[in-house]
Amino acid sequence: MLRIDELRVNYGGIEAVKGITFQVPEREIVTLIGANGAGKSTTLRSIAGLVKPASGRIHLQGDDITGLSPDRIVSKGVTLVPEGRRVFPDLTVLENLKIGAYLRKDDLEDDLKWVYDLFPRLKERSWQAAGTLSGGEQQMLAVGRALMSRPKIMMMDEPSLGLAPIVVRGIFDIIREINRQGVTILLIEQNANMALNIADTAYVLETGRITLSGTGKELLNNAAVKKAYLG
Ligand SMILES: Nc1ncnc2c1ncn2[C@@H]1O[C@H](COP(=O)(O)OP(=O)(O)OP(=O)(O)O)[C@@H](O)[C@H]1O
Ligand SMILES: [Mg+2]
Repeated sequence: MLRIDELRVNYGGIEAVKGITFQVPEREIVTLIGANGAGKSTTLRSIAGLVKPASGRIHLQGDDITGLSPDRIVSKGVTLVPEGRRVFPDLTVLENLKIGAYLRKDDLEDDLKWVYDLFPRLKERSWQAAGTLSGGEQQMLAVGRALMSRPKIMMMDEPSLGLAPIVVRGIFDIIREINRQGVTILLIEQNANMALNIADTAYVLETGRITLSGTGKELLNNAAVKKAYLG
């Protein structure tokens, strides 16, 4: 589905991503784990077109999408649920969801129903201002808004950040369900344990380089991963 070749990203003189190569097979859940500052968010932001790579290529189903605008990338089926959720606090839940579909002109009713079936809580609260939702509800809304673009692949940047364990479990159940319904997932997590448990394929990113890869299970049982990330 997605192929990243020798991706490099610089901020000024600083190399944040130093030539990484990895794949996200169709219908899989793939996770990137790594410490703070490893380059995880930068990788997702460059796939989404929000930062321009210094070099390297990004292919979606064989199609070169490197350097396209964020809008073009969304319309090709790649969406990002950003770190920190970023819902529009003064708009209602429903208005936030409609913004997720802004590039489409067709009927939204089916997709709204899809999102409301996944997140009944959002349906109950569709007229509530997004800024007054709980953290977990805002995360649901950020995911719901991303789904409204009808993505082939959904990238998620630390969806569990700052949420209570029971809410985190709910979010991971939903990720699995969305994947089961055919959406490919590229997930970034500090919560390496949960991420490796649901991932088909996993990569470890250290200071801008991929240092390990394998199935989620393999990395869960890897001694170095256990020591550095599983506490
Ligand atoms: N806009 C920016 N300008 C300059 N440097 C940046 C910018 N964004 C990120 N960086 C730097 O790039 C490196 C990688 O950052 P990135 O946000 O990709 O890491 P991360 O793996 O997502 O970390 P975290 O787990 O803390 O979110 C860091 O050294 C960071 O300081
Ligand atoms: Mg980050």
